[in-house]
This record gives sequence, structure tokens and C-alpha cells, in this order.
Amino acid sequence: MQEHREHIHGQWSSRWAFILAATGSAVGLGNIWKFPYITGENGGGAFVLVYLGCIALIGVPIMVAEIMLGRRGRRSPINAMRFLAHEEGVAPAWQALGWWGVVAGVLILSFYSVIAGWALAYVVRAAGGVFNGMDGTTAQTVFTELVQDPERLLAWHTMFVVMTVVVVSRGVAAGLEKAVRWMMPVLFLILLVLVGYAMNSGHFMAGLRFMFAPDFGRLSLQGVLIAMGHSFFTLSLGMGAIMVYGSYLSRRTSIMSTTFVIAAADTSVALLAGLAIFPIVFANGMPPGAGPGLVFQTLPIAFGNMPGGTFFGTLFFVLLAFAAWTSSISLMEPAVAWLVENHNVSRVNAAAFTGIVGWVLGLGTIFSFNVWSGEPYQLFGKTVFDLLDYATTNVMLPLGGLLIAVFAGWFMRRSSSMEELGIGDSRLYRGWRFVIRYVSPVLITLVFLQLVGILRFN
Ligand code: PHE
Repeated sequence: MQEHREHIHGQWSSRWAFILAATGSAVGLGNIWKFPYITGENGGGAFVLVYLGCIALIGVPIMVAEIMLGRRGRRSPINAMRFLAHEEGVAPAWQALGWWGVVAGVLILSFYSVIAGWALAYVVRAAGGVFNGMDGTTAQTVFTELVQDPERLLAWHTMFVVMTVVVVSRGVAAGLEKAVRWMMPVLFLILLVLVGYAMNSGHFMAGLRFMFAPDFGRLSLQGVLIAMGHSFFTLSLGMGAIMVYGSYLSRRTSIMSTTFVIAAADTSVALLAGLAIFPIVFANGMPPGAGPGLVFQTLPIAFGNMPGGTFFGTLFFVLLAFAAWTSSISLMEPAVAWLVENHNVSRVNAAAFTGIVGWVLGLGTIFSFNVWSGEPYQLFGKTVFDLLDYATTNVMLPLGGLLIAVFAGWFMRRSSSMEELGIGDSRLYRGWRFVIRYVSPVLITLVFLQLVGILRFN
């Protein structure tokens, strides 16, 4: 009935193409860089448990909703929301949800590309044999030397933004499908190699216990918010990236089963990364809460002391940069698709413009690790990078996700979502609808309210 809703930017060639692209968006620095360090900072097991709960009860249902809205709207998030609001007969103000996502995407891009730049820098270090025989102290020195040099960070940041702009300007589907197809499995294999190394480090059990033995005494309210925010960040939810990818999805594809595949892949990569990193942390007497440098200060030790480490190390950081690349592309896509649709600019110019905005904002993150790291440049004890990360991941994405859930659950007609999901009035559909109407929105709201101290349970 809606076959006429063709998308002006083209369509994925198959269900697998979409799965690969969406997994490419989901799996990135969030899994390998961020998940381990925030797990370390927030005490381990209890945090991981809350994070997994958020993935299941909030992330997965909202991902279904977001893909569904994208496919039904068949446009960039801003226009899709305007169109759907019109179709469902509700206020056009819902398009603000699209705007919210465009802003969040560019803000995230600004710091994301700086960290991705670290991964690029580490490719060179790995290939040059810098990791050979490395111990904890040298690993720390190598990392500190990199982040304390704004010029080097700027060079890598620039390179990464340019890489992203190039791919986005050529259209998302073209190169992405083929690249992700081999990259994901290889990344998975290297993580397994690393977990194998960690198993022999003598401290595997300590790592395992840290990650999976919950001790709720070590989890603060703040930690709960961070776990929830990360469930959005890691699945690329709440800002339109998955919505815009969904808009290129064929109507014959099952949104539900596709979502399960993506969420499972994303979660396993994060858990494997943790399993590789924490045993090394304990074997070398490092603090698990070392912060954003954690991955870069631990894995080089493993590579430096395993056979074939130069090869595996180089490959690993190439793939990490690659995984970041396929994610940053999706951060830009909502803005770019909107510029192309509404302002008649070419994809190339739209991508270049978005890239430049992200690049300039990225300077704030670069300086957060060196010239602006001190007290005078902080707000509430947070650097520019901390603030950007906090505001986007813990506030903007969950709020965007909340609005998506409310729209899909309450403002969209039951018949519309049932038609779009294509599984009839099944138990699965009814279960999803219940969760998206009651469970996810209530949980998100509770976490927010707890935080502002309006509601206290103790
Ligand atoms: N999901 C990506 C990661 O985990 C980051 C991302 C967030 C990408 C939001 C797109 C949108 O690295």
C-alpha cells in the first residue's frame, strides 16, 4: 500500500546490507574504548548488569521503534518526523526530535573523531614496533605523550574527519557494505585472540569477577545514568542515525529479527573487549578506573608480549579505526540527508559543511587533554570533552530515545505500527508495544528523576 514511498537517497541492496551498515554504526569506539573504561570507573559487575538490562528493556525496543519510524517516514529524521506527525494527525512540533538528533550527532562527531584519531595514531605505533616488550609504565608514557601534544591530536583528528567526509559524500551504501562484511568478523577474531592472551595472563579470573560479580555498593546513581546513556550510545540510538539507516530499508525486511542480530553483535563485541582488557589491568597492577586512556594503556602490553604482536597490534588498531569510521559516518548522515533534501545542496557540499562544523568543535576535545586540562578551563570539574560526552550521551540521547518511544507507543496509531512491523497482532508485537509504551519510558524517566533528586527511593 505504501510502495510509492521510495527514498530519494536510494535503498540498501538487501537485508544483510542493512544489518552490516547498522552494525557498523553500532560497533565502534563505544564498544572497545568507552565500555571498558566506564565499566572500570563505575566499579564493574553491577554496572555491567545495569547496562545489559538497559540494552534489553530500553535499547532493543527503542531500536525497533527508531528503525520503524525511519522506514515509514522514508526521509531524513527531521522530515520523517514531520511527515509522520502529519500522517498520524499530531502536532508538527514532533519534527524537533529530528533537529535534536542532528545537533547531538554533530556534537558527538566532534569528540568521536578525536578519539578515533588516537586509534589512527596507534596504528603507526603498533606497526613501528613501539609495543615490543612493553610494560605498564611505558604504555602509560606512550599514551600521555600522544594526548599531551595538541598538534599531533589535531593532525589525526583532521585526517579522520576528512576520511568520514569522503565516504559520506559518496553515499552511504556504496563502499560501506563491502568493507563491513570482512571487517566485523576479523575484528571479532582479534578480540578472541586478545581474550586468549588474557586467559594466560594469570589474572583472567580477577577480570571475570570484576566484570560479572555485581557489587551494588560500588554503583552510584550517577553510574546508573551512565549505564543507561551508554546503552543508547553503543546502539547508536536516540539521535536519528538508526532512523536514517532505517529509511533506506526495504519494506520486506523484518525489523524485529534484524534488531536482535544488531544488538547481539554489539553487546558481544563490548563484553569481549572487557574480557580482553581487565585481566591485563589486574596483571599489571593498573587502576581499572584509569579513564579514557584505558584501552590504549592496556592492549599494547598484550601486543608487545605475544607472538606476532606487531602484526596483531597493527591489524587491531586498523580495525578499531575502521569501526570508528563506520560509526562516524552514521553520526553525520542525519544532518547530511536533511541538507540534501531541504536545501538542494550536493552530498559532497553537505558532507563537507557538516564535517567542518564537527572539526571546529573537536578542538575543544583536543585541548581538554592538554592546554585546557586544568582547573581554570573546567566547569563542575569537567573538561570540555567530559561535558560534551556527558551532555550528549547521558542527556541528549536518552531524551531523544524517550521521545521516540512516546511517539511510537502513544502518538502513532496502533494500526500504523502494526502494519510497519509486519508481524501482525502477534505476541511479539503486543509485547513490544507494551514495553515501548510503559517499560522503556518509565525507566528512562525514573533514572532522570532519581538523578535530579526529585524522587528518592531511600
Ligand atoms: N554506536 C557508536 C559506538 O558505539 C557511536 C554512535 C552513537 C554512532 C550514536 C552513531 C550514533 O561507537
